[in-house]
Amino acid sequence: MVKLGTVDLAGLEFVSEGDDHPAFPAGFFDRVDPGRDDAFYDSPRFVTHIDGAAIEAVGRTYDDLGIRGEVLDLMSSWISHFREAPQRLVGLGLNEAELRRNRQLAGWVVQDLNADPRLPFGDASFDHAVCCVSVDYLVRPVEVFAEVGRVLRPRGRFVVTFADRCFPSKAIRGWLATDDAGHVEIVREYFRLAGLFDAAVSSLRTDPSAVGDPLHAVWAARTP
Ligand SMILES: C[S@@+](CC[C@H](N)C(=O)[O-])C[C@H]1O[C@@H](n2cnc3c(N)ncnc32)[C@H](O)[C@@H]1O
Repeated sequence: MVKLGTVDLAGLEFVSEGDDHPAFPAGFFDRVDPGRDDAFYDSPRFVTHIDGAAIEAVGRTYDDLGIRGEVLDLMSSWISHFREAPQRLVGLGLNEAELRRNRQLAGWVVQDLNADPRLPFGDASFDHAVCCVSVDYLVRPVEVFAEVGRVLRPRGRFVVTFADRCFPSKAIRGWLATDDAGHVEIVREYFRLAGLFDAAVSSLRTDPSAVGDPLHAVWAARTP
């Protein structure tokens, strides 16, 4: 994944996938590569997408927020970053080989959330949910966040983390066009619009004076 500040937006051509949302400017969810996401993620990437300090910050964030019990890892891969695996962690992602390799997952589902944002789980079936360095690829995020709210138990937290790297061809235009502070506001807005969460909280989880990847977290609890 590349650092966002290095992406020259003027040189990119965005294509509409018809996913405008009235709360966001027209074209906000357009992408350079509107092709099938499962084709883009067809080959496994057994890599880490953020540096060691940022990965450590993800695990520490989950611990600090008490993310344990039955947990959904949305947009999951071969690594889920928990310091200690929750009692039952279920992954949803696009690459079967990556999910199969993930030793913290008790189960997994392959599903393209941009093709179908409905989660294949019953109401109130998880204690918490997480989504790490992936929210920028969702073209129907409000529907996905509402679905996460549906499958969470009351007071369950949804923790969204991200840094300043991405696959630019697959990230939405609105994400590419702004900075870390803008990304925090975008995710807060997804929570608000989903209508099933308390007010979101955000925090920079890495040392602001460090030179590595900044790891931001935005989270909210499912309303009772
Ligand atoms: C940058 S990787 C991050 C993976 C993992 N969460 C981590 O922390 O390393 C992006 C992940 O999002 C998943 N993903 C991307 N687009 C998706 C989509 N449309 N539906 C479901 N998962 C998707 C991919 O399978 C990929 O594993």
